[in-house]
Amino acid sequence: MGQWSLPRIVAHRCGGTLAPENTLIGLEFAVAHGCYGVEFDVMLSGSGTPVLIHDETLERTTSGFGAVSDTPDETLLRLDAGSWRSERFAGERIPLFADAIRRCRALGIAANVEIKPASGFDHATGRAAALAAALGWAGDDRLPLLSSFSGEALAAAAEAAPDLPRALLFEAIPPDWRARLEVLGAIGLVCDGRLLDAQTASAVKRAGYRLATYTENDLAHAQLLQSYGVDSIITDRPDLLAPLR
Ligand code: G3P
Ligand code: MG
Repeated sequence: MGQWSLPRIVAHRCGGTLAPENTLIGLEFAVAHGCYGVEFDVMLSGSGTPVLIHDETLERTTSGFGAVSDTPDETLLRLDAGSWRSERFAGERIPLFADAIRRCRALGIAANVEIKPASGFDHATGRAAALAAALGWAGDDRLPLLSSFSGEALAAAAEAAPDLPRALLFEAIPPDWRARLEVLGAIGLVCDGRLLDAQTASAVKRAGYRLATYTENDLAHAQLLQSYGVDSIITDRPDLLAPLR
């Protein structure tokens, strides 16, 4: 059922909490800790360009302010996206999705692209992210996994780039999970690992779907999730979970 390129341990938002989230330096940190799988969030700028950022607003992780979807590239791409984490990361920028793809490919990293639409931009973000991913990974035999909490964004991604593998994101897995995956042609799902039980995990696996969880920073609980059959565990601490790779 489609291809799942993610390794067992995947760094959250590029480098987890070892680096500023959703930055190119985060990719280097993941690799420096031997982690060759990353998750990151893709949203559209005010210019309609796919960029890496988690929040709909700029305040928490950048030197800017206001909504990402109101901010044109000439402003957005100049902001400092590193100092909030530590002065040593000052000058780190919000990456273009296209640049993150190039860096992942150069470093040999498998990517989980979380499509993170700002409110009201579900279709546009799903379509733009999927088209950019298809172009960026063209000719690569290891394709990224596209995921989203937004069924609308994932449906738009499926329409724009049907060959890219998809997964639906949940907090707790809902009772109708299977129908929701089928309608999107998804090969798996990603859920909150703290809300996952062995029985539900087993039902997903028995149905032939792939399963990933977020955001696990505890080694013992990560081991438990692996014993449930979880394929990939997204973590802020790829260093701590290194023994489970
Ligand atoms: O993709 C898994 C995880 O990143 C979902 O939550 O809020 O960290 O994007 P969030
Ligand atoms: Mg995410």
